[in-house]
Amino acid sequence: MASENIDQAAIEAAARALEQGALVAFPTETVYGLGADAENPAAVAAIYAAKGRPQDHPVIVHLAPGAPLDYWAASIPHEARALADAFWPGPLTMILKRAPNIPDAVSGGQDTVGLRCPSHPVAIALLRAFKGGKGGVAAPSANKFGAVSPTLAQHVRDEFGQDGSVSMVLDGGASMVGIESTIVDLSRLATHGPVLLRPGHISAEAIAAVIDQLPSAPVARSADPTAPRASGTLESHYAPHTPVAMQDSATLRQTLLELAAAGRKVALIHYSDMPPTHAALRLPATPDGFAHALYAALRAMDGQGADLILVEAPPQGGAWLGVNDRLRRAAHGSTGIVHGLLNQAAP
Ligand code: TXA
Ligand code: MG
Repeated sequence: MASENIDQAAIEAAARALEQGALVAFPTETVYGLGADAENPAAVAAIYAAKGRPQDHPVIVHLAPGAPLDYWAASIPHEARALADAFWPGPLTMILKRAPNIPDAVSGGQDTVGLRCPSHPVAIALLRAFKGGKGGVAAPSANKFGAVSPTLAQHVRDEFGQDGSVSMVLDGGASMVGIESTIVDLSRLATHGPVLLRPGHISAEAIAAVIDQLPSAPVARSADPTAPRASGTLESHYAPHTPVAMQDSATLRQTLLELAAAGRKVALIHYSDMPPTHAALRLPATPDGFAHALYAALRAMDGQGADLILVEAPPQGGAWLGVNDRLRRAAHGSTGIVHGLLNQAAP
C-alpha cells in the first residue's frame, strides 16, 4: 500500500482509541495485530480477554521507526542495535531484558520484552500518531488463541466482529509476508548466544550475516525451565478446525485417489499438478509466495466442509523453514487421520 493511500483520519481515530485504552486491530507486513497501549495494564489485559489467551504469555511491543530502545529494554547488546539497523522496520522481533517501567502484563511476568518495528505503512502511520510516536503498541496476532493468524482485515472482522471487544479494524490489504515475524532471543547472549524462538521471513543465516553468530534452535522448556515462554512455540498453534495432514507430492497424488474412492471430501493446498478434488487452492511454488498465501488458504479450505485439509509438503530448504514450522503446528495432533479416513466407512 502506498503511503499516499493511507486514510489519515482513520489513523488519528485509531491512535486516540488506543490512547484511551481501547483495542485496535491493524495491518502489519506479517499478519494483522490486535493492539493496545503497552503501558496501560488494563488495555493489555483486554487483549488477553478478547483472544482467550492465557495471562502468562508475553506479547510483542511494536515501536515507531527510530523509537529509543532503551526506554523499553534494560540492557541492549550491540548485536541488537546492529539487527535493528539491518532489519527494522521489518519482520524481526528481538527479545531483550525489559526496562523496569514495562508492565508485567506485557512480558507475561518474565524479565524480558519482545520488541519489533513493523514496516507496513499503516502500522508505521499508527505508531507515529499514537502518543506522538513515543508509545509502544502491544499486539499479538489478531486471532482467537490457537487459531490461524489473520492476513486480511476481513479475517479479523470474521473473528472479532460480533463480540464488541475490538473498537476498530484498520484495513491495509493483504499482509505481504503472510507468516509471523522471526523471533530472536538476545536476552541471554552471554550464556546462551542468540536463539531463534520462531523462524520467519528473516532467516537465521540473514541474522548471522549481521552479528557473526548463527542463532541456535530453542531448547525445550522441559529441558530448560528458564527458557522463555512463547505461545507461538506451542505444538498445536495455528490450527484450523478441520484436521490438517501433510504429504510429499507422490504420496499425496495416490492418497487423493484413495480418499476419493472411499467417498471422502478433501480440501487440498498444493503447488504442483494434482488430480481434481472436492476443493483445492494452488499456491506459488516459492517460499515467499507460499507464505504470503498460506493462512488465507487454510481459512478458505477450513470452510469447505471437508473431512480433511491435505497439504502438499513443501521442500525442506532453509528458506522454507518458516512455512514448514507453521504447517507442522497446524497438522499437530492429526497423525493417522488419513489412515483413519480410509479405514472407517464414510458417513
Ligand atoms: O509478526 C508478528 O510477530 C505478529 C505481528 C502482529 O507483529 N505478532 C505476533 O504476536 O505474532 P503473537 O503474540 O501472536 O506471537 C508473539 C510471540 C509469542 O509466541 C510470544 O510468546 C512471543 O512472541 N513473545 C513475546 N514477548 C516475548 C518475550 N518477552 N519472551 C519470549 N517470547 C515472547
Ligand atoms: Mg499469534
